[in-house]
Amino acid sequence: MKHILLIAAALFCACLPARATYILIQTDHTQLVLTAQEDGALRTRYYGKRIEAPWQFLNDDSRFHGPNGSGPMTVPTTGGKYVREAALHVRYADGSHNTELYYTGHKSEYRNGVFTTTVMLRDPVTDLAVQLIYDAYEKEDVIVAHTEIVNGGKKTIELLDYASSAMHFEADRYLLTHTWGGWATEMQVERELLGHDTKVIESRRGVQTTQNNNPSFLLSLNTAEFSETAGDVIAGALAWSGNFRLAFDRDDAGRLSVIAGISPFASAYPLAPGETFITPDMVWTFSSAGAGQASRNLHRWARNWGVYRGGQVHPTLLNSWEGAYFTFTTETLLRMIDDAAGMGLEMFVLDDGWFAKDFPRNNDAAGLGDWEVNTAKLPEGIDYVASYAHDKGLKFGIWIEPEMVNPQSNLARRHPEWVVQSPGREIYQERNQWVLDLSNPKVQDFVFGIFDGVMKLSKNIDYVKWDCNRVIQSFGSTYLGKEQDRFFVEYCQGLYSVMKRIRTKYPDVIIQCCSSGGGRVDYGALHYFDEIWTSDNTDGDCRAYIQYATNLIYPPFIMGAHVSAVPNHQSGNVTPLKFRFDMACAGRLGLELQPKNFSARDRALAERCIASYYQYRDLVFTGDLYRLSSPYDSDYYALAYVAPDKSRAVVYTYCLRYQHRTGSQHPFRIDGLDPQRKYKVRELNVDRSCWWGDGQTFTGDFLGTGAFNPDLPQKYSSAVFYLEAE
Ligand code: GLA
Repeated sequence: MKHILLIAAALFCACLPARATYILIQTDHTQLVLTAQEDGALRTRYYGKRIEAPWQFLNDDSRFHGPNGSGPMTVPTTGGKYVREAALHVRYADGSHNTELYYTGHKSEYRNGVFTTTVMLRDPVTDLAVQLIYDAYEKEDVIVAHTEIVNGGKKTIELLDYASSAMHFEADRYLLTHTWGGWATEMQVERELLGHDTKVIESRRGVQTTQNNNPSFLLSLNTAEFSETAGDVIAGALAWSGNFRLAFDRDDAGRLSVIAGISPFASAYPLAPGETFITPDMVWTFSSAGAGQASRNLHRWARNWGVYRGGQVHPTLLNSWEGAYFTFTTETLLRMIDDAAGMGLEMFVLDDGWFAKDFPRNNDAAGLGDWEVNTAKLPEGIDYVASYAHDKGLKFGIWIEPEMVNPQSNLARRHPEWVVQSPGREIYQERNQWVLDLSNPKVQDFVFGIFDGVMKLSKNIDYVKWDCNRVIQSFGSTYLGKEQDRFFVEYCQGLYSVMKRIRTKYPDVIIQCCSSGGGRVDYGALHYFDEIWTSDNTDGDCRAYIQYATNLIYPPFIMGAHVSAVPNHQSGNVTPLKFRFDMACAGRLGLELQPKNFSARDRALAERCIASYYQYRDLVFTGDLYRLSSPYDSDYYALAYVAPDKSRAVVYTYCLRYQHRTGSQHPFRIDGLDPQRKYKVRELNVDRSCWWGDGQTFTGDFLGTGAFNPDLPQKYSSAVFYLEAE
């Protein structure tokens, strides 16, 4: 039926509708309904759970007589009757600012589980043409929208606002959940009830754009309470690694428009006659069963479509950074490799400090840009170390930061014009470094060449950690001349074009997206990168908050999660080794410490935790996440990954605050299990379990009652349970 409806809709003529028509964009459980009125106005009527006869929206024109007279315009444009936050704002060659778009037709096609609907609009006065493209992912209940803007006129125009997508909602209350943060405190949850007027979440940092805010959100409708399991929730994420802007514009009637796209900050983008601007993708999902389902929709989409090789299991690893920093010899690395192999890990990653000869990278003040092996430090070279790792049965990874240059480098002397800068102004340093201008195609070639060159250091390089450790300041490009407004957009496009080339040549290398930790966590980057470095903060306590919030939008399998030494190098906090393992094992497990400093007891525990991780690791990568308790709302954090066929699960439980309770058994309801099936529950990595039911078999519905109440008596008590259906 759905197919017939869409095909019928697709046959609609490419001109102003003789009578009102509707456009249906739908997935297995959700529906987006647009209507084109007789006058050609295109309006968004509904985004929510599927209803039977969506054409009935055509009978309702009650919303078009509001103060702005325009109703929920699918593309709110500056000009005409519309006076609020715009998705599209154009300055024409004659200086005018008005754009009024009219529907001219639409078409749909279906391929491999994705319905693509293209809606065409035009401004008859200026010949500006706009196409809205919606990819509806049937099974994942995700709609990915982007916009293509074509200058059909004869003169160059300027795009002042060019959002990817707008959505409109009507509810009594809108509870916004989003994340803020900073270095080592990425992804902190903030919730607020939206008032009237406009709430904006934006980044103007150029790169490292997600360190303060993430271009994503959850929106709970008609409630002031965040619920995992109940109510209508919309989730959105912009797939863009540059400056972004999310605007939540609530009008005087209480209606909400969400407008998401590239930030127009200093980016009035020129569009010549005949040129098309393609916006980044905006990823939307809807759940009528609370935030948990909204996250799971996004995670499934990420696994199947959104993340490079999503869901593929990646190796556990030992990273050299916190264990060795810049101070190592070949011998140091070989002994770390021996230890990694001995502990049952699968990869060794050589972090910063291995490169540059004339300006050796012995601290962060020199060397970025000069990507040759520092043979004074590693006389045998990289291949020797990488081959040693392979001989020990480990994969090998290496760190680069190709977008950056230290003033103390040969590159800075050879190509000062490649540095991001503004004429006559100081080029400010951050972490003693400058940014290379990726809007320049020559710099793009150079950056591709860095990756290519590093890969040639050894045929045994399996993994690259790509870092990016500062924001852009005094922005500008010697290459762009007078067209500086292109800079921010073309930097990000330049990065993607480099990544495209890298992926064509190196489809199999695992690439981690790091940016001082989680400074580049978005679905634009994840189109090319396999995983992220979630945060430089590896304190298990802080990680509870960071990982919980990351997983609101992004799937657990992308999270690099490492066990490090205590006191923690970032926070100074001391947590038990088991707690650190239990936290890191909820992501892609790694270690980031000097293993030779382990006591015999700690080493034995580490080996035990690593071995047990392999038993359920596939669930981290392919299971469905159920959040059982939030660190933000409770003294306890708990989550479960459940196999899609519900045959197995892993449940993580943590005490984050000591409450002096006489009864320290905390009840958790394990969601997501099959209520009828019986599961054998076993606690991992302990000799004596902290739950009375350990080793026994219980039905899924019993485990969902709160009878599952492990004893977590102290701050940083933690327990991991493995569940297998009979
Ligand atoms: C950044 C990264 C760290 C590490 C250092 C190396 O801070 O986030 O993990 O790689 O750079 O300089």
